[in-house]
Amino acid sequence: MNDDRVDVWSASLALHRPALRRLEKIVSSDERGRAERFRSDLARADYIVTRGLLRTILAGYLRVHPDEIALGRDGKGKPEIAGRLRREKLRFNVAHSGGRVAYAVTRGREVGIDLERIAHDVPAEALAERFFSEEEAAGIRRLPSPDRRQAFFTIWTLKEAYLKATGEGLRGLDQIDLSRARRCSADSWRVEVPGSRTAWSLRTFVPDVGYVGAVAVGGPGCRVRFLPALSARVS
Ligand SMILES: CC(C)(COP(=O)(O)OP(=O)(O)OC[C@H]1O[C@@H](n2cnc3c(N)ncnc32)[C@H](O)[C@@H]1OP(=O)(O)O)[C@@H](O)C(=O)NCCC(=O)NCCS
Repeated sequence: MNDDRVDVWSASLALHRPALRRLEKIVSSDERGRAERFRSDLARADYIVTRGLLRTILAGYLRVHPDEIALGRDGKGKPEIAGRLRREKLRFNVAHSGGRVAYAVTRGREVGIDLERIAHDVPAEALAERFFSEEEAAGIRRLPSPDRRQAFFTIWTLKEAYLKATGEGLRGLDQIDLSRARRCSADSWRVEVPGSRTAWSLRTFVPDVGYVGAVAVGGPGCRVRFLPALSARVS
């Protein structure tokens, strides 16, 4: 995989549940232990499927068996490849929402992904006023009322994808102001973040009807390839 490419894999967890038994065999004993602590069977299955697919996808790039991959966390808690395969510089990030999961994979650059089901019971405008910059919130207010919810979720996923790329997580929500980003196309932006040495490339995508997703990668523009996780070989 070239450094200028990001692959975004997207899947419905329910579609992969029939592969549960096989996926259970490739996750680590720690992951099986964590799965056991979920109270509901569904949450347990979703966790195994999420981890099993992650390992299957990463194994395809690393040309190893999925259970050979050691997964750890960096100092900020961001999951990463540990052990001897770390030298491959493969980076990934995972997001799940409303029964779907998305994975971003790239090499040599930081990457973050977010995915949200566009929920109708969330007070989108109030959350924008509370958590977004003044300019971002004003941009949403200027839109016709029916478009505001979609705009809120789009900005939210872009910000969260960036914050997951840096490993900061939601505690850094005010670090990035999308009203200052340069729009490169209908679904892509370049943004310079004060204090960050690199510019960031951001891109939104629609994993399914009623969902919005975003991917953030450190450095200049990159090619994003969208793939259904069903095409990853699960063996
Ligand atoms: C990380 C965070 C943004 C996830 O947000 P979310 O909307 O609840 O969930 P998402 O589906 O988007 O992402 C969850 C996935 O992000 C990944 N993740 C966890 N911590 C992460 C971090 N610091 N940076 C990037 N990705 C992270 C994991 O793969 C996780 O999936 P898993 O729990 O199945 O392993 C949120 O939990 C957060 O802000 N945490 C605060 C930062 C934090 O706790 N850091 C850890 C300090 S030890």
